Amino acid sequence: MTKHTPNLQAQKIVGGVHTDQRHDSAHKHVAGTAIYIDDLPEPAGTLHVGLGLSTVTHAKLKKVDLSAVRAAPGVVDVLTYKDVPGENDVSPSGMHDDPVFAEGKVQFHGQPIFAVVAETREAARSAARLARIEYDELPAILNIWDLDPLKDRQVVTPLTLKRGDPDAAIAAAPRRIKNRMKLGGQDHFYLEGQVSLAVPGEDDEVIVHCSTQGPSETQHLVAHALGVPSHAVTVEVRRMGGGFGGKETQANQCAAIAAIAAKKHKRAVKVRLDRDEDMTATGKRHDFVIDYDVGFDDEGNILGVDFVFALNAGFSADLSGPVGDRALFHCDNAYFYPNVHAKSAPLYTNTVSNTAFRGFGGPQGMVGAERVIEEVAFAVGKDPLEIRKLNFYDAMGSAGERNVTPYHQKVEDNIIHRIVAELEASADYAGRRREIAAFNANSRFIKRGIALTPVKFGISFTKTESNQAGALVHIYNDGSVHMNHGGTEMGQGLHLKVAQVVAEEFQIDLERVKITATTTAKVPNTAPTAASSGADLNGMAAQNAARQIKDRLIDFAAEKYSVPADQVVFLPNRVRIGNQEISFNDLVKQAYLNRIQLSAAGHYKTPKIHWDRAKGRGHAFYYYAYGAACSEVSIDTLTGEYVVERTDILHDTGRSLNRAIDTGQVEGGFVQGMGWLTTEELWWDGKGRLRTHAPSTYKIPLASDRPKIFNVALTDWSQAYEPTIHRSKAVGEPPLPLGISVLQALSDAVASVANHKISPRLDAPATPERVLMAVERLKKEARGEV
Ligand code: MTE
Ligand code: MOS
Repeated sequence: MTKHTPNLQAQKIVGGVHTDQRHDSAHKHVAGTAIYIDDLPEPAGTLHVGLGLSTVTHAKLKKVDLSAVRAAPGVVDVLTYKDVPGENDVSPSGMHDDPVFAEGKVQFHGQPIFAVVAETREAARSAARLARIEYDELPAILNIWDLDPLKDRQVVTPLTLKRGDPDAAIAAAPRRIKNRMKLGGQDHFYLEGQVSLAVPGEDDEVIVHCSTQGPSETQHLVAHALGVPSHAVTVEVRRMGGGFGGKETQANQCAAIAAIAAKKHKRAVKVRLDRDEDMTATGKRHDFVIDYDVGFDDEGNILGVDFVFALNAGFSADLSGPVGDRALFHCDNAYFYPNVHAKSAPLYTNTVSNTAFRGFGGPQGMVGAERVIEEVAFAVGKDPLEIRKLNFYDAMGSAGERNVTPYHQKVEDNIIHRIVAELEASADYAGRRREIAAFNANSRFIKRGIALTPVKFGISFTKTESNQAGALVHIYNDGSVHMNHGGTEMGQGLHLKVAQVVAEEFQIDLERVKITATTTAKVPNTAPTAASSGADLNGMAAQNAARQIKDRLIDFAAEKYSVPADQVVFLPNRVRIGNQEISFNDLVKQAYLNRIQLSAAGHYKTPKIHWDRAKGRGHAFYYYAYGAACSEVSIDTLTGEYVVERTDILHDTGRSLNRAIDTGQVEGGFVQGMGWLTTEELWWDGKGRLRTHAPSTYKIPLASDRPKIFNVALTDWSQAYEPTIHRSKAVGEPPLPLGISVLQALSDAVASVANHKISPRLDAPATPERVLMAVERLKKEARGEV
């Protein structure tokens, strides 16, 4: 740029909304300077905890002899349920069924029975092994496969969704398929495990630094366990090393143990689980059994469908009710069912209690929908993509009536047709489908498959009161801004997005806005950062806070300079007042000298939504996020091993606040979804012991497992149908079910061994063993041997 060209750059702030900014901590993540809980300087005299876990699956505790534990070197104390001063419970559901420490009985292998408090973590851990516990073992139920989903062991009243007359429609349909699919769970595998550091204060006070997605809930449950009011407990979290739903409720137990020990000994106490303990003792994604019964015509139009989604709650309720509900909310994915009945069945077993995991049951619902599509496609002998398009909800703006969901909400913003059409073209679906057929005809052992699958994901918490947020914004008198809100940072870039919103509002460069740790002392009563709603809710709350201060600044300037309020305009880093311009800092300084309040608390609640669970009706979601993925795989029919050759994604984030961050969310979400449905297998032995509790046996995708060609794009034409924050859309969870394209592509490759005449009905995760067994089964079936 020469001296004479006007500097257009200077006419915009650096880092406002709709600009690509790198994650504020990216360089600190890689350099190791980002501070996680375990990096905080430990107060002098900090004690450490080792947990004593149950070694059986279901039993009465006959005798718990901890004398050898107490006598071990370095041990300061051993805590059991008797040491809990308040209620021995950290259940988020209000069902009082998640004890801090097992009391009288154990309900799963790995359940915490006691905690050793010692001078070092090593001392605490080795002492924990010295316990002598006698169990009276009870019969245990280890999975939901053999349970009757409609009768057995219901955790909550099941949700029922119904529209039309499914029984009659299915009975009258020209074709009908009834079957069942098993769908495995998933470990969160956050890099930073569960960790809490409790620092006691005077009287009943305690500060808990906790890796939690829900600081307010952690605060309330710690207070409850301590038997003190919530005002005595402060929970703080600067960032998590990943949460993925695994720290929505599962952080509370460690927080409570740390706080109880800290208050008892008046010393700081840290609880940090190692990987094996974390995987054994904390909850995961629910595994499901999906029963489906679908009626359709010879074209492949779905006429009626009946679903039962049974899910493995584990030993306690936790979030299993709402997770089952969200599965039902997504059992349509992007498809219109003219007649539908769907039922959830969260069932108790004797495993660890399952919990939130990115998508919160939604992805499981969509897997059910896509299985039905696949079945219909095989039955009528068409490409599944054709069946998908045939059954889509009507597009936005069309006058048709095929736009009502099973929960009676109208889909008003449907852009899936355009997304799928664009992706089909950019990925050259038709051309590659032909190439693959030619390749398979000439390849004896390696077979290829392709699938293009859509995603429609509902945005809002179904628990109405969770759809609110708070923020606290200060401008200091040097013009620098301190920004705080109720959301938590787990790598998703939420703090950065909210900071961009505040920078935009004041028209100041992003670097002037300080991102600060989330704490219950600054913003109270917040929802957990979940349901992908972090930026939607907290962005709005922060904007609201900033606008309050801005309004005061405008009123002040108008009065002081005797101009009408509409002549006070915020320009990049400056303010125009009538005919003159002053810097933002100057205005702030003058306002301070004139005793103007430069701090504000903001609030937001999502409009329009309502949900009546008993009736199965409502406007459950403020809007939907859309996307589609096309994946191609090759399988080795001799070993079952596979490779993802190529994936193309087109995903909708509305008018993205930050496309760099959103693209990362889409890539990560897809890979996590792919891992769930392919190699991540949780395996319990006949005694209820989780045997895949470390990366040696539990295979998350590696960098080398990502698609060899990976084209990820965001729509550049979409905007949120409703007035969300700057018309952006939520992005945290919706990309995860894009991974279903890999499962469907594997299925397509398997089907090729029997000329695409037999539905492979792959259960998930489709591990290489499962792929190999499916290949063998299809070959036999094709030869007429089964
Ligand atoms: N991205 C990263 N890097 N780490 C995470 O733990 N959690 C996911 C998603 N993306 C997660 C993530 C989950 S489960 C949710 S609900 C959202 O982020 C939460 O953040 P948001 O509401 O700000 O999108
Ligand atoms: Mo995400 S599963 O809603 O924390």
